[in-house]
Amino acid sequence: MPDRYAVIGHPIAHSKSPLIHGLFAQATGQDIVYEAIDGGAAPGGFQRALADFRAAGGRGLNVTLPFKLAALAVADLASEDARLAGAANALRFEDGRIEARNFDGIGLVRDIEVNLGLPLAGRRVLLLGAGGATRGAVRPIARAGAARIVIANRTADKAEALAAELAPHLGGVPLVGCGLAALGTQGAFDVVINATSASLDGQAPAVPAGAFAPGALAYDMVYGKGLTPFLRLARQAGCARLADGVGMLVEQAAEAFAAWRGVRPDTREALARLTVPLA
Ligand code: ATR
Repeated sequence: MPDRYAVIGHPIAHSKSPLIHGLFAQATGQDIVYEAIDGGAAPGGFQRALADFRAAGGRGLNVTLPFKLAALAVADLASEDARLAGAANALRFEDGRIEARNFDGIGLVRDIEVNLGLPLAGRRVLLLGAGGATRGAVRPIARAGAARIVIANRTADKAEALAAELAPHLGGVPLVGCGLAALGTQGAFDVVINATSASLDGQAPAVPAGAFAPGALAYDMVYGKGLTPFLRLARQAGCARLADGVGMLVEQAAEAFAAWRGVRPDTREALARLTVPLA
């Protein structure tokens, strides 16, 4: 019998994970089945679905909104990235235990460094937003050797508090938190990442044009939405290198697949299948 994996979220119908993992399994010759599970909106739905899946022999789960915090809470073991992110996006069921990981940040770093060809070592990185998406990205970006990281948020207090919490875990990489309104005093950045949920409301965080250094990469974590308001703002600011989060999605999936199966899939076909032009 093939090993069973799944993605769990709510809603889940539009998840690309079954397609991505199906392509990975085919390309690596791994005999697995991968399904999508709707954990529902009712309290306890995630925990019940998880228990049912394990009881049926499930080996691992990808976890998406709104269950990433609950996924960390049920784990017996958690990686440092998952603990610092306060959330898990991949679970593995092994020897009767639940192991939690968070591959979102490493997926982002691999997309920027490998797919987009921009090594982060020595770069100045600006993260917009102070929610879960930023929380998961900071440590992997620091590990990649960024020169400096700034978290800028509409609500300045949240950025300052998050920076204070994460700074001791970054191996000395400088981290500052500030309000979007204070960005004018922070200089320019080589990579500007939109980790806010503003795109989902058709808005862009208010980033001054001076935040984009010459040749900067503007990266929106959302995917499949074409040129988002943030990417349009970046282009108007003179930024020519634009990317959405499709590569982050594919690369975090590849990390989970590698952790589960011990073989790293080539991500190019999945990327080509899912990429929507930024127009
Ligand atoms: P996630 O877990 O996806 O990061 P979240 O925790 O709800 O989501 O955080 C959403 C982030 O997007 C917050 O940083 C929010 O800013 P506030 O803390 O000031 O609310 C940010 N955000 C949402 N809409 C925004 C907008 N229109 N402009 C700027 N920032 C926005």
